[in-house]
Amino acid sequence: MSSTADDRPNAEFLWTADEHRRVGREVADWIATYLTSLPAAPVFQPVPTDAAAAMLATPVPEAGEPIDAILHRFEQEIGDYPFGNGHPRFSAWVNSPPAAIGIYAQTLAAAMNPSVAGGNHAAVWVERQVIEWFKSIFGFPHESMGLLVSGSSAAAITGLAVARHAAAARIGWDMRSAGAHIVSESGAPIRMLVYESAEAHSCHQKAVELLGLGSAQIRVVPSDDALRMLPDALDAMLAADIAAGALPIAVIASAGTVNTGAIDPLDALASVCARHRVWLHVDGGYGAPAILTDEYRTQLAAIGRADSVGIDAHKWMYVPVDAGMVLVRDAKLMRDTFSLVPPYLRSDDDRHGVHGPPWLSEYGSEQTRPFRALKVWMALRYFGTSGYARLISHDIAMARRLADRVRTTPELELREPQGLSIVCFRAVPAALEGDDAAVDALNQRVLASLQLGGKAFLSSTVLGGRTWLRSCVVNPGTTPEDIDAVLDAVLDAVRSYL
Ligand SMILES: Cc1ncc(COP(=O)(O)O)c(C=O)c1O
Repeated sequence: MSSTADDRPNAEFLWTADEHRRVGREVADWIATYLTSLPAAPVFQPVPTDAAAAMLATPVPEAGEPIDAILHRFEQEIGDYPFGNGHPRFSAWVNSPPAAIGIYAQTLAAAMNPSVAGGNHAAVWVERQVIEWFKSIFGFPHESMGLLVSGSSAAAITGLAVARHAAAARIGWDMRSAGAHIVSESGAPIRMLVYESAEAHSCHQKAVELLGLGSAQIRVVPSDDALRMLPDALDAMLAADIAAGALPIAVIASAGTVNTGAIDPLDALASVCARHRVWLHVDGGYGAPAILTDEYRTQLAAIGRADSVGIDAHKWMYVPVDAGMVLVRDAKLMRDTFSLVPPYLRSDDDRHGVHGPPWLSEYGSEQTRPFRALKVWMALRYFGTSGYARLISHDIAMARRLADRVRTTPELELREPQGLSIVCFRAVPAALEGDDAAVDALNQRVLASLQLGGKAFLSSTVLGGRTWLRSCVVNPGTTPEDIDAVLDAVLDAVRSYL
């Protein structure tokens, strides 16, 4: 097949059924080989600099190419240089491998290619069904609302936009028309404040900046030694700020921080927020799916008390990127924040007609919306919540194996407490004890050599001003042998620098 394969009009656009089947089989064949041979491949190798330069220097194609040539290019120029996150010895950041069902679901969604802005077509109902399932998993009421979004960053923007709208409306300020510079009746500016711990993901600062609040309005709430926000400190800060005339917009709590997997005391924080009538946004981007496990069900149950929550099925539910979600307890407020359909024209029930249920685009910032929900729907049907509980528990067990091995290795120090499936540790060889700068430098060199060495891939973080190696296991394909191999690679690197 080529772009000029036959003389049917627009033949390159209108593939025959046989052409679809042939290309589909070739693609499936590549996927099968790629995913099953990953464990034997280097975890990561950078794109050679000359290849990257050649990519940028390649002019826009004027004439089309045959599909076989394009697939060949894909194999040579792209497929050999993955990010690394499909590999069982990659445990950096929070990037899982794709569940196979999600890969094919994404293709099916693309084949239908609807805009899920709204209407009475299946994709809208699939998204609504997925939202219902997540409401029931996280204890949100049926009357609440949600949307699939690109990720927890978009969930934060959405949740905090509703929070800002709600707080302003309570003091009679119309955020949508008057904008984000609230003034009192006497014309004095009113400070709008957002509260988070130092461990909150940076996407929340981005959201605060984008919403025009300004990052100077973020109040950092102290944490305990386990890096969990202190509810009493939050309580005191809110009381003082409110007494001083400020308008608290939201508190951002973490259901698993990105650095250490710390879970903020969600129930106590929800009570503080309720007492001060302040919005609680829970960042569940990484840790929220652990609610499906017996071990974390109770600790994460108070997510159901939040006003909004961000969840990423593309992280610890292994759905291909992107598959984020925001749930908002008050559906009306969510719609009032975003809808541009005047109330008298809004249709709440056209379930027999073309319009369908209220349009999803009325609840968020996007109009044309992708069919993200299909891959989440298929993955949940395929694994079920019990399958997810098993897979997530596996990842936690692998992280604990790594933590146990670190604890019993004299040259290594474990950052305690270890949380969810994240392990922070560092090399502290006796020869460098007491020399913080040298220990940091050693760990940075170890990390760089690991990442480029191809045997294991970790990330790093800074805790208490010191560099730590960081492993986050979100891969059901990671075996105990992989964990041991990661630790061996770390020790080899450490010893090579002493
Ligand atoms: C805990 C946590 N929150 C929020 C985010 C941001 O989510 P996203 O990248 O899906 O927008 C991340 C990303 O790693 C995260 O780990």
